[in-house]
Amino acid sequence: MQTIGELDPLRSVVARMRESGRVALVPTMGALHEGHLTLVRTARAAAEHVVVSIFVNPLQFGAGEDLDAYPRQIERDCALLEAEGVDLLWMPDVETVYPAGFATRISVSGVSEGLCGKSRPGHFDGVATVVCKLFNQVGPDLAFFGEKDWQQLAVIRTMARDLDLRQPRFDRIFGVPTVREADGLAMSSRNAYLTAGQRAQAASLPREMRAAAAAIEAGKAVPGALDDLHGALVAGGFASVDYAELRDAETLAPLDALAGRPARLLVAARIGRARLIDNIAVGPN
Ligand code: PAF
Repeated sequence: MQTIGELDPLRSVVARMRESGRVALVPTMGALHEGHLTLVRTARAAAEHVVVSIFVNPLQFGAGEDLDAYPRQIERDCALLEAEGVDLLWMPDVETVYPAGFATRISVSGVSEGLCGKSRPGHFDGVATVVCKLFNQVGPDLAFFGEKDWQQLAVIRTMARDLDLRQPRFDRIFGVPTVREADGLAMSSRNAYLTAGQRAQAASLPREMRAAAAAIEAGKAVPGALDDLHGALVAGGFASVDYAELRDAETLAPLDALAGRPARLLVAARIGRARLIDNIAVGPN
């Protein structure tokens, strides 16, 4: 695996790769876990060449968020990617991505609003901006993101569609199902913030979400099911619930009832130092 931190060598290596097949990009912020490695394996199955980026993007962290504390474990990450047969690790520094005078932001309305967009103002502008830059830097044919960040995936696809991106085209941006621990907790770099006790309590998140989804599918009114979910999470050890909502899976429009279209239950809740997010399908998907 080659590791590159400068744009010119990145472009010539990727240009050479493209002569012998398609290039897939897996953007990450490092602190890799099995969820990321599943993205890499999916990319590997779909393309001849796999590029992974590791960049902890300051633009997507708000004031008081965990930018400085965000787990960084580069040596371990490199060894994991090497073992997966990744061809190229793109690891720019902050000055390469945001040189002095950098003044542009990409803002995607609609799908960015509400959910994490409400509790993390500016977050999705930071995500859309950096992902657009990573796409333009690497120029992949395909890109892979985790479905755990469902709203993020919608923001990125909308950005790529609206800006007529060609490398990759918006319909070559793929979501990969969430990878879960044995007790159902979605894998996340932020799970590292949990104490052993909080980690055990955190398993109530996917469990109570499944119960709420089953209740809605069985005909329970959505507002009541979401109230019950909120109460169950707080009773289960979560300090607060940022949101628990049923949304249209594609447009992210709020839903008060299942409407015969794919729907998604999305939750963000805080426990200890961690803010955990998760989402699952509800009804026919
Ligand atoms: O999901 C992430 O790890 C980040 O938000 C991403 C997509 C790499 C952009 O920084």
